[in-house]
Amino acid sequence: MIRTRAILITGVNGEIGHGLVMAVKDQRNEDIIGLDVEEVDRSLKASLLENITGNILDQNILDHINSRFELTAIYHLAALLSTRAEFSPRTAHQVNVDGTFNLLALAVDQSRSQGRPVKFFFPSSIAVYGLANLKEKNKAGQLSEKQYLFPQTMYGCNKLYCELLGTYYAEHYERLAADAGALRVDFRSLRFPGLISAVTLPVGGSSDYAPEMLHAAAQGQPYECFVRKDTAMPFMTMPDAIRATLMLMEAPREALTRRVYNIGAFAPTAGQLRQRVLKDFPKARITFAMDEKRQAMVDSWPTDVDDTAARTDWGWQPQHSFEEAFAYYLIPHLRNRYGI
Ligand code: SER
Repeated sequence: MIRTRAILITGVNGEIGHGLVMAVKDQRNEDIIGLDVEEVDRSLKASLLENITGNILDQNILDHINSRFELTAIYHLAALLSTRAEFSPRTAHQVNVDGTFNLLALAVDQSRSQGRPVKFFFPSSIAVYGLANLKEKNKAGQLSEKQYLFPQTMYGCNKLYCELLGTYYAEHYERLAADAGALRVDFRSLRFPGLISAVTLPVGGSSDYAPEMLHAAAQGQPYECFVRKDTAMPFMTMPDAIRATLMLMEAPREALTRRVYNIGAFAPTAGQLRQRVLKDFPKARITFAMDEKRQAMVDSWPTDVDDTAARTDWGWQPQHSFEEAFAYYLIPHLRNRYGI
């Protein structure tokens, strides 16, 4: 039986999934298989060759995909975000770790049957870092890929382990086998900062205050920010995150000196975000009511990241600085979306 060539996107209903489907459809001549635990969004269906409702923990679904499709790349986006993972740590570990393990195994099967390493994209996060306290966070400043890898959250632990697991699959999988190294997967990963989309909202993250503040303001709703005004962490627009994903996946293997890259764009405080939102939505009612527990999670994440390796190896450069993000992407799209 001849299998149909396509890329696979897991967690396709999520924010990155939405952005990625649109970008692939616009820019590339590739068929997309979308997998999600919930029924695939109607807005996505027309762009997919096939949409599959199913759990990445269900081996039957993955076997079914393996038997029907020749996957040229896997974008494994399905995950529980950081706040949600603290409430359901067992489920988070199952989805974020066991799920990734299953997808890596699928990538190995595909690589072997196709006779070439299948590209595997894994969205990691700044949550892999763990600064002990605010003092350490402020002192540390921009972090490189190797510093402070002591995550304090379930989500951060899951992401850090899967970065290592993917790297193992790419470089050392079955290292004692007679044909060791014959065919492995081409694992590539980005540590995303908090992502802000003008078209979708995140569910269950700890950096959600930025997109929530903006979407609330655009709809004329009040917003109570759950971190302090002076809280800084890196953010990026969704179009830049998608662009980075496709750039990394297209980069020639020889150009890559790492499997996991930091990428940055801007790193405002929550207070600066509020000020900038007020410039365009002067009537916005944004107040601060710190949630101590969520604050502590964000306080363990860096104020910013050092993305020199991404810039050097594959030419990373964000399109949107803080001001450009608002002026050219967020505000116009939000006005359009909410009809204001
Ligand atoms: N934005 C994510 C979260 O808040 C971090 O990767 O969980």
